[in-house]
Amino acid sequence: MALIDDLKAVQDQLAQQLAQATSLEALEDLRVRTMGKKGELTMLMKQMGKVAPEDRPAVGKFANQVRGQIESALVARKGELAKQLLAARIERESADITLPGRTQTPLGTQHLISSIREEIEDIFCGMGYDVVDGPYVDTTWYNFTALNAPEDHPSRSAKDTFYVVDNAPEGKPTHVLGESDVLLRTQTSGVQVHTMETTEPPIFMICPGTVFRPDTADANHLPQFTQVEGLVVDEGITFGDLKGTLDYFCRQIFGEDRATRYRPHFFPFTEPSCEVDVSCGVCHGEGCRFCNNTGWIEILGAGMVDPAVFDFCGIDSKRYTGFAFGIGVERVAALRYDLPDLRMLMTGDMRFLCQF
Ligand code: PHE
Repeated sequence: MALIDDLKAVQDQLAQQLAQATSLEALEDLRVRTMGKKGELTMLMKQMGKVAPEDRPAVGKFANQVRGQIESALVARKGELAKQLLAARIERESADITLPGRTQTPLGTQHLISSIREEIEDIFCGMGYDVVDGPYVDTTWYNFTALNAPEDHPSRSAKDTFYVVDNAPEGKPTHVLGESDVLLRTQTSGVQVHTMETTEPPIFMICPGTVFRPDTADANHLPQFTQVEGLVVDEGITFGDLKGTLDYFCRQIFGEDRATRYRPHFFPFTEPSCEVDVSCGVCHGEGCRFCNNTGWIEILGAGMVDPAVFDFCGIDSKRYTGFAFGIGVERVAALRYDLPDLRMLMTGDMRFLCQF
């Protein structure tokens, strides 16, 4: 029967075309060409009226079967195609997240000042010292008065100390610079006072930390730098203990080949006082810009705790003696590595910092 053959032909042809439809658009096109209003199958179904009445049930049944099969073949192919397309897309767009990035972010290192500070901590911890902390923002009591600095000491002026000025609501300072009690500490020595106020001797402590001074940065000054304060208080402590301790420290940090010298000096809070210099490694004692042509670099101040300081802090100055010192960490770094300019430590230049 002609119509049955035509239906079969459409079905066979569709099976081939389905395999060739490799996109959803092509498949939709095929569906319209077969089952749309003017599609081949639709047109054949319209010829049903011309079939002889006695054949109609059988032909109709067959035609319906064919239509059902074509419909499900189209749906099945659509599902298959969607799956393939998704798989291809996942393959195309997948990323290997274990691959290294195209732009490599350079790894930093611990800053030279931090590692030297830790090294200094290790040396003193090895001698039984505690490491303590203190406030960056402190008062004139801790930074000057209890350290025996007279009221008119020049270091108290706003030229040498950053005062913290509270701002009134209108934004006008309530304090004139230099008249505020609150300041950025200019030395870690205030931590001596904080410690003695709260701790019974024997005291063996160091305090590493940042200090601030209104200085213009140059080869050997920075407006913000790092000190390590040291304080020892016990019965019978002598200048010999001070010298033995600091000699040991200098040998540990600089090695045996650098010379040290103790120069008499004055600090309000120690008596007698000294400064300790280490021979300049840039010029080996000849004199250069870094050592101000002296051949020596000052790295620390020290002295025996003035009994007046004990009195300010409530420690029995008849019973106890002690020594204190303050080490400049940037200068230690400069001496160890022959840095000609302290400002190198502040630039954040990775080419410089990664050498250490
Ligand atoms: N605070 C002193 C300074 O900043 C250093 C120092 C500390 C001196 C302790 C003596 C004792 O210069």
